[in-house]
Amino acid sequence: MVAGRFEVNDKILDAPLVESTVGDSGIDIRKLRNETGLVTYDPGFANTASCRSAITYINGEEGVLLYRGYPIEQLAENSRFTEVAYLLIYGELPTPEQQRRFSERLTYHTMIHEDMKKFFEGYPPTAHPMAILSAMIASLSTYYPETGHPQELELNMIRLLAKAKTIAAFAYKKSIGQPFMYPQNHLSYPANFLYMMFAVPAEPYEVPPVMEEALNLLLILHADHEQNCSTSTVRAVASSEANLFASVAAGVNALWGPLHGGANQKVIEMLEMIQRDGANYKKYVERAKDKDDPFRLMGFGHRVYKNYDPRARILKKMAERVLNSLGVSDPLLDLAQRLEEVALNDPYFIEKKLYPNVDFYSGLIYRAIGIPTDMFTVMFALGRLPGWIAHYKELKEDPDTRIWRPRQVYIGHPKREYVPAGKRG
Ligand code: ACO
Repeated sequence: MVAGRFEVNDKILDAPLVESTVGDSGIDIRKLRNETGLVTYDPGFANTASCRSAITYINGEEGVLLYRGYPIEQLAENSRFTEVAYLLIYGELPTPEQQRRFSERLTYHTMIHEDMKKFFEGYPPTAHPMAILSAMIASLSTYYPETGHPQELELNMIRLLAKAKTIAAFAYKKSIGQPFMYPQNHLSYPANFLYMMFAVPAEPYEVPPVMEEALNLLLILHADHEQNCSTSTVRAVASSEANLFASVAAGVNALWGPLHGGANQKVIEMLEMIQRDGANYKKYVERAKDKDDPFRLMGFGHRVYKNYDPRARILKKMAERVLNSLGVSDPLLDLAQRLEEVALNDPYFIEKKLYPNVDFYSGLIYRAIGIPTDMFTVMFALGRLPGWIAHYKELKEDPDTRIWRPRQVYIGHPKREYVPAGKRG
């Protein structure tokens, strides 16, 4: 079926339709340049589908998010993070036996090679944990190099999921000068992480159930979000046939930026700044609207959602519950709620369809469970791992995959002659 007919430079291109099961279908323009001598120009790729994918579906206008067809609200209500990880990577919810085996393998591979502990010694105590996470994930490839054996990728996917939380917790322990705590096999994935973060050798430590529940939820809500910046980065690097660890380390770096996963840290820093300034949140809403002021309301707006981010809705409720249950009174929660109310009723935010995104409330939960601010984006990365892995696997299995190599519209000098140094100026 022809989806589009382009008439350019006296040539006609019939572009076939790439049909979706639901949501936007695509126009296949693979022959565009050869047949018309033109390329498309789409900064930020807002109109470009880089691949066909069966992992996650988002309807940003209606605030819908599905993992492999299952609504995020149902998964958030009923499932465990490892079950969602299985679903994303393998395409179906696991049977009880598949779930048992998957969890068992994730537990078995949780420890990192003892030599890797020495790597942490080289970092200054002030090192940002995202830098450590990305470097350590890339370093896993030195212990588990790919030799092309078919079962190797499968095992490396498990290793990555299992070991990343240990790396993240060790990075935190290193930053506060405490001994590393080894994983405990009887604990669930989120509880094991919390144990490695907060237990100390001299004291017994029971993971509070509400903290385990909240972390399970946060990990699920972050687990995938189709072709976002970090996932696209993983795919771009993987398209050159780089190994899984190298590709995912690149995704961690892409996530770090404040316009992406780094926003959760920036939200808390923004709320603290407003609080210090007498909680005058209306002033900051005005600043966010001022074109001459670079200030933006962090945790607001999204490339895809033009409605309330369904993850933010779930997290808002969880933030209230966690704080109540732990008996934590955080003035920043109150401030966040008031800021949201003002912004959502302001014509600027209404017209531009700017709503709270997943990062707006997640930081308040991390804070309540004792995770330091500079670890927030690491938490996001832990959650996003199954998504990155699923996309890596999907790309590898897709016969349409080609190395990512976009074109450009060149706007520099046309060809000119070299001028020797003495004749310049
Ligand atoms: N505060 C004030 N104005 C905003 C905000 C904001 N948070 N976000 C967007 N706008 C305005 C822009 O100034 C722009 O106005 P204009 O049309 O008059 O020029 C308009 O809304 C559209 O914004 P863009 O930046 O063009 O939208 P884009 O899709 O490129 O960017 C992004 C989306 C990066 C998320 C943006 O909304 C933003 O910077 N938000 C704050 C950072 C943040 O929360 N990031 C986390 C995103 S979620 C995630 O990655 C997990």
